[in-house]
Amino acid sequence: MKQEIVQIHSLEFLTNEILELTFISDYLSSVAKPGQFINILVGERYPLLRRPFSIFNVEGNKISIVFNVIGTGTKALARKRNGDTLDVLGPCGNSFLSFIDDSFDTAVFVGGGIGVAPFPFLTKHFPTEKKIVTYLGGRHKELIITKGLKNIKISTDDGSEGFNGTVLDLIKKDFQENNYRNIRFFLCGPTRMMKAVADFANEIGIECFASLECDMACGIGLCQGCNIEVLGGDKKYKLVCKDGTIFDTKTVRL
Ligand SMILES: Cc1cc2nc3c(=O)[nH]c(=O)nc-3n(C[C@H](O)[C@H](O)[C@H](O)COP(=O)(O)OP(=O)(O)OC[C@H]3O[C@@H](n4cnc5c(N)ncnc54)[C@H](O)[C@@H]3O)c2cc1C
Ligand code: FES
Repeated sequence: MKQEIVQIHSLEFLTNEILELTFISDYLSSVAKPGQFINILVGERYPLLRRPFSIFNVEGNKISIVFNVIGTGTKALARKRNGDTLDVLGPCGNSFLSFIDDSFDTAVFVGGGIGVAPFPFLTKHFPTEKKIVTYLGGRHKELIITKGLKNIKISTDDGSEGFNGTVLDLIKKDFQENNYRNIRFFLCGPTRMMKAVADFANEIGIECFASLECDMACGIGLCQGCNIEVLGGDKKYKLVCKDGTIFDTKTVRL
């Protein structure tokens, strides 16, 4: 992991509400793994704290992130222009690649809202002999992005695209209709969505790994502010930013 000043290559809208920001980094593009994140100092003075963003894609020496404009940090990012510089720290956290083994044939990716962010990079590097099915859930269609994903199934809360309902409703419906075998879930998105999907996976005896979301002050294991309670074992808490962000959902209290 290292801190560097990088140059913005492009900033484009993928939908009316989601932007893709691409910057150039020889270092990050050579070491980053799917599921890892970078910490960006988005403004020169304010906000003071870096903001974490999942690595969305790596293409040559270019790294992309995606975001929707929510508050101070993402507003500042959206004002950047091609050629501007960014202070980035990374790559941080563990990788989904550590949770791939021979005990499953089909990976089910579930992305809630902007939680889809790590899956295109993961799709690119997933073992080709395994099948991928990608479930995307969003409040409405402008929050759904499909770039770089495979076998996509969409749900929206308002029915503006795909299935009208939650992503878990869609998964349950599909699981009744298809005889999925030897599968493993990989999740990223709002904690409430991930808990619901993890509970379902647990009920039907399927392994489930989730990239956890939380507020991060330092993002590198120093401030101890991103505790997650561990179920069983010697340690009571782990740090989301350093020990994760990806955990077996049976081992932590979501
Ligand atoms: C490991 C990790 C990876 C992340 N990857 C991405 C990513 O790829 N793309 C991305 O857009 N964001 C990602 N986030 C969230 C991101 O770091 C910021 O928190 C988010 O973009 C909002 O930052 P902000 O400064 O604009 O909002 P702030 O000014 O910090 O917050 C403004 C308001 O929005 C609320 N808020 C903050 N975050 C969210 C949220 N996620 N959903 C709803 N309300 C929120 C706050 O509670 C506050 O009320 C990630 C977070 C983590 C921990
Ligand atoms: S955010 Fe500081 S220790 Fe995790």
